[in-house]
Amino acid sequence: MTEKLFGKMPDGTPVEEYTLRDGELSCGVITYGGALRSLVLPDRAGKPVDILLGFDTLEDYQRQDKYIGALIGRYANRIGGSRFVLEGQEYRLAANESPNHLHGGVTGFDKQVWGVESALENTLTLTLQSPDGQEGYPGNLEVTVTYTLGDSALSIDYRAVSDRTTLCNLTNHAYWNLSGHNSGDIREQQFRLPNSRYTPVDAGAIPTGTIDPVEGTPMDLRQLQALGKREYDHNWAIDNWDGTLRLAAQAFSPGTGIDMEVLTTLPGIQFYTGNFLDGCPKGKGGAVYPRHGAFCLETQYYPNSPNIPDFPSAVLPAGEVWRSKTVYRFGKRDHHD
Ligand code: GAL
Repeated sequence: MTEKLFGKMPDGTPVEEYTLRDGELSCGVITYGGALRSLVLPDRAGKPVDILLGFDTLEDYQRQDKYIGALIGRYANRIGGSRFVLEGQEYRLAANESPNHLHGGVTGFDKQVWGVESALENTLTLTLQSPDGQEGYPGNLEVTVTYTLGDSALSIDYRAVSDRTTLCNLTNHAYWNLSGHNSGDIREQQFRLPNSRYTPVDAGAIPTGTIDPVEGTPMDLRQLQALGKREYDHNWAIDNWDGTLRLAAQAFSPGTGIDMEVLTTLPGIQFYTGNFLDGCPKGKGGAVYPRHGAFCLETQYYPNSPNIPDFPSAVLPAGEVWRSKTVYRFGKRDHHD
């Protein structure tokens, strides 16, 4: 593990970068947004490849509006109308994607400097205190996120406690490109989401409330297939969700032979193909990140669940511990059958 100063916030607060190592894997994390900044592993020829988008300076992180690599909270993805009712009381949230609330609001967890609870060779634990009323949410929320490298995987363990009943839906917004962060668009890369149902959305990307079969629709990605000309920005429902770790998605680059499986304890996963990446500042080493230059697989409660009683609930009762785990597991293959 190495630690170095990455930059300073306008008020002088230092932002550190930690680099975790385990065998052939290394992973950079900055304390601004708790963001994953790099993940390096060997391709099938043994050449190191960095498969995560990121920036060289803190200023670029602050300038971009794509949530690159960041931890997202309190509520990942959208809450329709920027409002919800909890225990008979209505709460109004920041409408940062008017009229809706996106990724925790104007100053979500992605824009805050996280504290470091512990840092070891292959594991880093970050903490954040989100005060009562921040972005409109009730309760003082204490959040702990642990990144761990091991067994050819990056694991993320989330934990949160609030002194009042609140909402909690934490995720990470890593942008992956399994051919290398600077390799351009991902259309040749292959994807599989083994899930048989998804949540259809309206024009504002808010779920309509049904959970529909993927069968016979472009959402049917149950067989590994190249992205091609399609684009996605949808939530799939994990089959037989019961809070245990389940396979939610798989991605593969025929170019590098790098294969990634995503496992989660949460009920949903957003597959987003970088449809709004254009306009992104230059990335690490001057890399250009075009539209469809990366994909995201964000484990989550379903978007807008606070307003849809039939969806699994993201309500965190006062004093109870919210936990979730997401694992990104890497392998190498010549090809997929
Ligand atoms: C994704 C979301 C997209 C877009 C993106 C950030 O999680 O599904 O609609 O908001 O974040 O640019």
